Amino acid sequence: MSLPDLALPLVKKLSPEAAHSATISGLKLGIGLPKISPDRWGIPVELPKSGLHLANPVGLAAGFDKNADVHSAMARFGFGFLECGTVTPKPQPGNPKPRLFRLTEDDGVINRMGFNNHGLDYFVRRLRRAPPRPDCPVGANVGANKTSDDFIADYETGIAAVYPYGSYLTINISSPNTPGLRGLQGKAALQELLTRCGAACSAARADAGAEKPAFLKIAPDLDDAALADIVDTVRGEGAWLSGLIVSNTTLDRPASLRSAHASESGGLSGAPLMEKSTRVLKDVASELFGDFDLIGCGGISSGADAYAKIRAGAHAVQLYSALSIHGPGLVAKVNADLAERLHADGFSSVAEAAGADLPSRA
Ligand SMILES: Cc1cc2nc3c(=O)[nH]c(=O)nc-3n(C[C@H](O)[C@H](O)[C@H](O)COP(=O)(O)O)c2cc1C
Repeated sequence: MSLPDLALPLVKKLSPEAAHSATISGLKLGIGLPKISPDRWGIPVELPKSGLHLANPVGLAAGFDKNADVHSAMARFGFGFLECGTVTPKPQPGNPKPRLFRLTEDDGVINRMGFNNHGLDYFVRRLRRAPPRPDCPVGANVGANKTSDDFIADYETGIAAVYPYGSYLTINISSPNTPGLRGLQGKAALQELLTRCGAACSAARADAGAEKPAFLKIAPDLDDAALADIVDTVRGEGAWLSGLIVSNTTLDRPASLRSAHASESGGLSGAPLMEKSTRVLKDVASELFGDFDLIGCGGISSGADAYAKIRAGAHAVQLYSALSIHGPGLVAKVNADLAERLHADGFSSVAEAAGADLPSRA
């Protein structure tokens, strides 16, 4: 067992944000970390449109390593890929504390962090100093400053800065904690965002002399009409995208929640998000599977959850909240369990199982 896993009961005695800071500090020291090879479970996957080759399909979602401080340490837990950020052009403190809550009885988390981060200069310095390992791609997730008067310009700035250093980039328009940000998912705003970000990516690609995959990260809180608009716009102005990450946290508060913190404002993640985010993933996949790569995120805490996302149309998955509940040893467990499930159902690869539950593949 790794030191971070052994220390988990102690760390959990701290407030959630102090626990996170202590974890990041510990990871920076790099003591007692395992050295788990990401190809150990024999479940590699190639994301067809982006060409990303992953040694396994289980990734770390954005928000854990906001400043790209500890991706080298996190790679040692067996992740197939990692996503750093969200980074905004300028440093910003985020919302007042407390802003992170454990929903212990529900295996969930509520956060209203508000993109606290050290800004692009710091983020890029970190990625330059410790470039991604060849066997564990590191994505750069970009966002907008709360006080910006042109959110889209912030994404353009972010893309230009991170493009040469990340293995892929993610345009995050789905955080519920920056007022107005989710408005970029509306049809007209999304058309403009994708047109301008597409141009920013083309310019960055020409400068870098290399093509990097780009993903759009969406919210789970979208009705059928809003989702149809996103699908249409992605097919149109977003045809240059490699894929979508589905999803960010939810503003919903399911009636089943039992924790005293359930009424805190912010985005809910962890187990209570699993069903909803998987449903949205499947809806998106029923339109876009095969044309865009889909990464399933939201509520994964087991191999069964990861497998459900893959069957719903994901080629890869990401998790975050369950790590704070179960510790980083979870990454190996999810991979091992997923490998068993694929084998038991007669799939010879992740790609073969991807989308197995979609009517078009039945
Ligand atoms: C404390 C916290 C901070 C987060 N910060 C970000 C962020 O900066 N950018 C982002 O795209 N998603 C962020 N997320 C959302 C996660 O990346 C993920 O989409 C969501 O938590 C659902 O996955 P999970 O249920 O496995 O946690 C954050 C989530 C948590 C819990």
